Amino acid sequence: MKLRRLVLMLGVMVVAIGGAVTALGTLATEKVPPADKSVETKVNDLLSKMTTEEKLQQVQLLSDGQITDADARAGVGGVFSLTDPAKINHFQHVAMEESRLHIPILFAYDTIHGYRTVFPVPLGAASSFDPSVAQTDATIGARESATVGIKQVYSPMVDVSHEPRWGRIVEGAGEDPYLNSVFAVARVKGAQGSDYGASDKVVSSVKHYVAYGQPEGGRDYNTTDMSEQRLRNLYLPPFKAAIDAGAGTVMCSFNAINGVPGCANHYTETDILKNEWGFDGFIESDYTAVAETRACPPVTPNEGPCGHGTAADGPSAAANALMAGTDSEMVSTYIRDYGQQLLSQGKISTARLDDAVRRILRVKFRAGLFDHPYVDQAKAVDPASFLTTSDRAAARTAAGKSMVLLKNEGQTLPLDPAKSTAVIGPFGDDQHDMLGPWWGQGRDDDAVSLLTGIKAASTGTVTFTQACNRENNFDPPNNVNPPLEPDQEICRDDSGFAAAVAAANNADQVVLALGENREMSGEANARSELDLPGRQQELIDAIKATGKPFVVVLFNGRPLDLTEVAASSPAILEAWFPGVEGGNAAADVLFGKVNPGGKLPVSFPRRVGQVPIYYNHEPTGRPCDTTFKWNSRYRDLPSCEPLYEFGYGLSYTTFSVSNLKLNSHTMRANGAGVTATVDVKNTGSRRGDEVVQLYIHDPVASISQPVRRLRDFQRVTLDPGQTKSVKFTLDSSDVGFYDNSGRFVVEPGTIDVYVGNSSSDGLKDSFTVVR
Ligand code: BGC
Repeated sequence: MKLRRLVLMLGVMVVAIGGAVTALGTLATEKVPPADKSVETKVNDLLSKMTTEEKLQQVQLLSDGQITDADARAGVGGVFSLTDPAKINHFQHVAMEESRLHIPILFAYDTIHGYRTVFPVPLGAASSFDPSVAQTDATIGARESATVGIKQVYSPMVDVSHEPRWGRIVEGAGEDPYLNSVFAVARVKGAQGSDYGASDKVVSSVKHYVAYGQPEGGRDYNTTDMSEQRLRNLYLPPFKAAIDAGAGTVMCSFNAINGVPGCANHYTETDILKNEWGFDGFIESDYTAVAETRACPPVTPNEGPCGHGTAADGPSAAANALMAGTDSEMVSTYIRDYGQQLLSQGKISTARLDDAVRRILRVKFRAGLFDHPYVDQAKAVDPASFLTTSDRAAARTAAGKSMVLLKNEGQTLPLDPAKSTAVIGPFGDDQHDMLGPWWGQGRDDDAVSLLTGIKAASTGTVTFTQACNRENNFDPPNNVNPPLEPDQEICRDDSGFAAAVAAANNADQVVLALGENREMSGEANARSELDLPGRQQELIDAIKATGKPFVVVLFNGRPLDLTEVAASSPAILEAWFPGVEGGNAAADVLFGKVNPGGKLPVSFPRRVGQVPIYYNHEPTGRPCDTTFKWNSRYRDLPSCEPLYEFGYGLSYTTFSVSNLKLNSHTMRANGAGVTATVDVKNTGSRRGDEVVQLYIHDPVASISQPVRRLRDFQRVTLDPGQTKSVKFTLDSSDVGFYDNSGRFVVEPGTIDVYVGNSSSDGLKDSFTVVR
């Protein structure tokens, strides 16, 4: 799915997006679309009437627990996490009727993979390699969110990550900037449509700006230090794609980038995002991220957030953040509190404060909030407004498309629905974990467990044995979480294993439901181990000993170390946290109603010590070779590769990719593109999907280039014996890269092209870039 084509397909008007249809590397210049002129007039009129105090209120963003009538009356800018339509209307009425200038509040929410209709977690959705999965999710999420009065979603999260230890890898589209860009565009278009002022649309906030996906050690919020070229080649592209697709707002990140916190970073916020890319929406800080930039006072009882130490105190933190480009402060209130003082001291400028307010008002006008500030409460409390039959069906399709078949020895799968099935394991009859982290207003009771899905799809007997616990006992109400031994998390003891073995012995086939619980993924949930927690491997071994055919179905939010699982299991299905229809979707795949076609959006290591391991790494002078000493290998690992690579995934049928043809072996740096075509054939006996992937490599460049870079892909459906020709077009934006001065360069020379069905194989040809 070519990004430029996707942008067009999704209905973005060229005029509205400036540089969006040009290369990712081409700089967009700020253009106010003609229709926006009236908005600009209204913004300026309103701004000219505002007092400094009102402006400082407008840049304040409060949580549901913070907002009071007094804030609304004073003209607070935004509120997040409030989902009760009556309360939303209440505060909006106060703002509209009792504040001096009647400026509506922008209500926001973390609708990440669904509001009530919960879709697969974003890492799962990315496995579909089908952007319509993400677009449908965002479309339904926007409609349901808007129904209760929300007009901004803190999504998409587009943080490229090579860090499976990091719990938040679940929220993005994995390790590749191109895949993340395509999914970012799809989510923005789903949420915003062509006009986020529409009643069923919301404005997207792209987060977390920027490089939040690469925290040292995989620990959330931790330092990020990186070269200019990595920042621009790996981490910025999905943000640029989202902005070009029209994303109206951006959230700056908690982490420091090269020593400068994301929400006090003039270079990333103002120089790149606003000036270079022409972004005219607003940037809100992440939760207390402005306060966290200040040094911690010597005595800190109840002193509130602090830490980075790039500001001495609250006022300096406020000044740094605002002057760097942060327009709206979430939860902490330093800009509002110290703004007057900072203005009189000349530490912030009126021009900059006005710019921040102008950006916020611009988004509010575009969102139509001045004309339609209130929510229709009757509709908002009507159960028919949520989780409709067709939305559920869409969630089921999405989950099926997102599952990845990792192993299928001896055609263990698909299972026979007429045979007796023993469902075994901590996640076998589990609704809660199907929803994954960031479940919005999803309800456990809405979710279909694997057992329920399997029962509905089987004509044979189905039994269930949990075998061991799925929850830990350490989810405390007060956020005090004692460090856990890995085996304390879930599946702590084997007392239920005998019953599980007996159930397996009594059945024809076994489905083992294993993985992580949803509390182990998402924000502030880093792990130092990547294997199956607790005694789950022992459970596999016990089931294996019965000799019954079995499949391991995995529910999890990060790449796991599956080395032992793969060695002991004939079949593995990666289901991720599949959402509200998870059990039905998994049953669809297990019994062959749906032929799995997902591919991994992230590498699965053999061992945690390989991390970071990712397909698009740079080459070294001594490439890894396990048979020889003086090179880049681990002495205790018999392989240089991940266990399962980016782009990998099996099917119940087989495919061949052949006949790679380039229409030209020369590309002019400023000329027409090069077209690559291949034939993809279903060589098996079932209808199925294949994801054809195009990678490039630049073997000689001024800075060492990744061994492969994904530049296009297409998921195609083929009947048995059917062949389709798949065409990709590359141009100079695909072969160029950013250097360490931040310049986008297209260098003359050879470009290798690989087309295949994963990042590790494929047909190869080359062309030459000439000036
Ligand atoms: C997270 C953001 C989220 C915000 C508001 C923060 O802790 O990092 O991703 O949007 O909270 O809920």
